[in-house]
Amino acid sequence: MTNTIRPNDRIERLSAASLGRVVEPDLDLPGELGPGPVIAGELLSVCGLDLSLSPDQQARLAREEVASIVAVGLRFEAALMSGFSLALVSVPELTDARVVYALHEMGEETRHSRLFCRLLGQLGPTTRNPLDHWLARRLLRLGVLLVICRSALLDVLVLAGEEIPDLFQKLAAQHPDTDPFLAQVNLYHRQEEARHLAFARTVLPEHWAKATWTDRLAVRYIAPTVIRGMFDFLVHPGVYQVADLPRWTTWWAANRTAQRGVLRQEATLPVLRAVVDGGVLRPGRIPRGWRRLCQVDAQGAALGAPELNKHHPCLAFEEDSPV
Ligand SMILES: [Fe+2]
Ligand SMILES: [Fe+2]
Repeated sequence: MTNTIRPNDRIERLSAASLGRVVEPDLDLPGELGPGPVIAGELLSVCGLDLSLSPDQQARLAREEVASIVAVGLRFEAALMSGFSLALVSVPELTDARVVYALHEMGEETRHSRLFCRLLGQLGPTTRNPLDHWLARRLLRLGVLLVICRSALLDVLVLAGEEIPDLFQKLAAQHPDTDPFLAQVNLYHRQEEARHLAFARTVLPEHWAKATWTDRLAVRYIAPTVIRGMFDFLVHPGVYQVADLPRWTTWWAANRTAQRGVLRQEATLPVLRAVVDGGVLRPGRIPRGWRRLCQVDAQGAALGAPELNKHHPCLAFEEDSPV
């Protein structure tokens, strides 16, 4: 079904929704995490590896994995805000609905980023990302600079950066064994992210129409590799040390289990759908990188979809409303 609402109207609705639902986490979500495992063992990255972890190892790994996801989320949101800010510096029309909504979105990102800082402090991770050294940090900064000056690529990575954590948050929020405060944080964050996703989907076709050839090339051929990296490094290899597991070997194996593959497909398919709906990629001509990332054929149809519920019965969700 084609969406007949004009982009301006859709964006103004998103602004109105943001205005009507201002959440100040320091006042509205004052809770804290309890002791012990914050997520269930079946939501851990190693769940398909048949490891026999003690309850203590599971609990420590759960905290480390969630801390890793939260830290990635914080940095990702910083990159998103730098991209939005860069665009605002030179936008021709400052009264445009897109400018107003971008300011709403950045307000929401800064508020929930402060909550993530608090959450990170409560999780108290003890492990270190092995990629967290000066060279990797410089490469990351360079990568962000290359992305944020390419609007279509930024939109696609924003879609991925919001869809991927969103799936993890959805699974955690719906699982009965998730720490109640973490579940509350996930629900709050997901409500705001639904609007951000709707905004990215709305502006992508506009940015694509004006995209440079390097932007287009990057979206078609480089974005899938970046998104795969975003997914695989959401849980960094260092976390496995708390369970006395080898860092890189465990990370490599964990990212290749059937369960992880299902999650990757489930998290990235909505990105591909948005990219196809936005006229960026055409069914029948889906580039190989996108096909491998999302496990789809050249038409963009999912391969192995019947396996989804077998591995993760909790993956049958209702669509969220962005407003
Ligand atoms: Fe966010
Ligand atoms: Fe967001």
